[in-house]
Amino acid sequence: MTLCKLDVCNVRNIESASITPSPRLNFIFGPNGSGKTSLLEAIHILGRARSFRSTQAGLVIRFQQDSLMVTGRVRDGEGLEPIPIGLRLSRRKREIALAGTRLQTSAELIRAFPVLLIQPSSSTLLDGLPKARRQFLDWGAFHLDGGFLDNWRGYTRALSQRNALLRSGTNRGIEIWNHELARYGTIVNCARVTYVERLRPYFHAAASHFLGSVPFDLVTMAGWEAGKPLGEVFRTEIAQDLRDGYTHSGPHKGDFQVQAEGRPAKNYLSRGQMKLLVFALLLAQSHLLEESLGAKGCVLIDDLASELDSDNRGRLLGFLNQRQAQFFITATDPRLLEQAGLAELAVFQVENGRVTSV
Ligand SMILES: Nc1ncnc2c1ncn2[C@@H]1O[C@H](COP(=O)(O)OP(=O)(O)OP(=O)(O)O)[C@@H](O)[C@H]1O
Ligand SMILES: [Mg+2]
Repeated sequence: MTLCKLDVCNVRNIESASITPSPRLNFIFGPNGSGKTSLLEAIHILGRARSFRSTQAGLVIRFQQDSLMVTGRVRDGEGLEPIPIGLRLSRRKREIALAGTRLQTSAELIRAFPVLLIQPSSSTLLDGLPKARRQFLDWGAFHLDGGFLDNWRGYTRALSQRNALLRSGTNRGIEIWNHELARYGTIVNCARVTYVERLRPYFHAAASHFLGSVPFDLVTMAGWEAGKPLGEVFRTEIAQDLRDGYTHSGPHKGDFQVQAEGRPAKNYLSRGQMKLLVFALLLAQSHLLEESLGAKGCVLIDDLASELDSDNRGRLLGFLNQRQAQFFITATDPRLLEQAGLAELAVFQVENGRVTSV
């Protein structure tokens, strides 16, 4: 799916903006504080039903306003009818519409318009808390495996029930939750492992493009002792779980690591190299999605130039230019465009929250 029309109303300093993006490369230039990231934030809200900068809608809604609205049209391929999609957020309410129908949850919206984000702080995907890495795996598994969401929800529900029981200080009736957790948890873990298997070749290709011949690999951790059946883990760890009032092991503790020759890459890469590795991971994710769903995705890249030297910026732009996905790229310096012979591009200028096509 690519975005072929975007209308933004009351997102941060953008009172109103309307653009017709290119299905391929879109560059958004403007000085600091002009509203570039806010424009990406609006597209992210359209594809994920939430901002990437704040969990509080109130902070994203333009000052003095009650709600924000982002609407657009997404297209599955050349010649196909675009589908209207839209979202209105107020401080307490979220309304989502897809193809003229109101949606109760964001799952269908997320499926209809897959959006990925790469921003300067994305390096935390490698060296930050595991939660972001689990979200990375789960977003990928969600898009490729139609049953993933139900199993993930089943696991999360059972986990909160089991934890509530543990907090109440009893293990009476806990076998039911052990059983549920083990059943859903095993499936969730398998889906993550399968996802990484499928991602690996795309990741290798992107990583070697950006970082040369270093043999990087992706290693998954299940979140419990390797090789043990999950049900057995819950039974053997019950004393510890009861003492602390929560479930210590399971896919909610799952993780993955990028390694080079058996060592965690985050321990010795430079900031710029980390950034390139994060590009490799996220662009691999978008490439796999594209090939397996037969549809293009949308990738938002905020502040592309930060922490990359001129050679690497050129290498990155060359890579994006060969891909079929739609990209929205922000930068302060329009000279970025001189670096690669880019095709099919649209350029937008942002000034004081006003967006114009150049
Ligand atoms: N809720 C809000 N209502 C109105 N304006 C806001 C709100 N939240 C933030 N702003 C302002 O929006 C402006 C645009 O911010 P944004 O982060 O989009 O800029 P940017 O172009 O990405 O800048 P930079 O190049 O520094 O990253 C800022 O001046 C900020 O103070
Ligand atoms: Mg910004």
